[in-house]
Amino acid sequence: MENLEMRDVSFTYPGGYLAVENINFFAEGGEKIAFVGENGAGKSTTAKLINGLLKPTKGEILIDGVSTKGKTTAAIARNVAYVFQNPDDQIFRQDVFSEIIYTPKYFKVNEDDIRKRVKKAVKMTGLKTYINENPYNLSYAHRKLVTIAAAIAADPDIFILDEPTACQDRRGIQLLSKIIDRLASEGKLVITITHDMDFVAENFDRTVCMAKKHILMDDETSKIITNDAVMEKASLKRTQVSLLASEMGYDGIITSEDFLDTIMGSRKCPV
Ligand SMILES: Nc1ncnc2c1ncn2[C@@H]1O[C@H](COP(=O)(O)OP(=O)(O)O)[C@@H](O)[C@H]1O
Ligand SMILES: [Mg+2]
Repeated sequence: MENLEMRDVSFTYPGGYLAVENINFFAEGGEKIAFVGENGAGKSTTAKLINGLLKPTKGEILIDGVSTKGKTTAAIARNVAYVFQNPDDQIFRQDVFSEIIYTPKYFKVNEDDIRKRVKKAVKMTGLKTYINENPYNLSYAHRKLVTIAAAIAADPDIFILDEPTACQDRRGIQLLSKIIDRLASEGKLVITITHDMDFVAENFDRTVCMAKKHILMDDETSKIITNDAVMEKASLKRTQVSLLASEMGYDGIITSEDFLDTIMGSRKCPV
């Protein structure tokens, strides 16, 4: 892949509400990007525009330089998987296996590849023991993983994960980090919408901050998290570590690992 470009994209909902305005954005396969910003800023609308569930009312979206203007939602969905904020809006089958296999089957992928993809998706999400369960017997966190597994099996070039860490415990969050890393290392573009600034600091080098229909800042994550004016405008909280580090006079530190490296220093080398 594959790159994604949004050119001056605006979207007005059918009722007349302008939800995003003049969005310009470019990203390439292999990147992991966090989308952050207050409720109602337009993050989920932007995600739906990228995967074709919504069509721009102004501007255009290009995948590998090709406009998605004339394409159907189904055609765009081959390239872009959007994992909804609420998994219950996306789960329709009676068991986990059927849910995961649905999209590659729909796209008439050959049997051999389907088997490989499902195996990979189940392994990456740790859902093996739940494979025959009705998704609604699982926890919310596991249902979210079911929808992520279904996206992995669909094998798109672009993943958009909407609030994946919601309701996940520590292990679930670690698992998500691994999934996002692996997908990016395979050359996928992984966009993650989240409120969880610790997760952002630990996992993403690039962050797009949205506020009131616009992209307020698109930059290195550490530059965004340490920019008080931008964080305040977007109603976001700095990570505890970054606050502590700046109180101690260290600038630009957002993760506990960097913090420890800085305060402990590096060991002297004898030669
Ligand atoms: N189907 C809809 N019809 C009308 N307005 C909507 C619809 N969905 C979302 N909105 C409005 O668009 C704005 C942006 O919503 P959304 O993209 O979901 O924001 P975010 O994901 O950043 O919280 C909000 O003010 C929301 O109320
Ligand atoms: Mg949202």
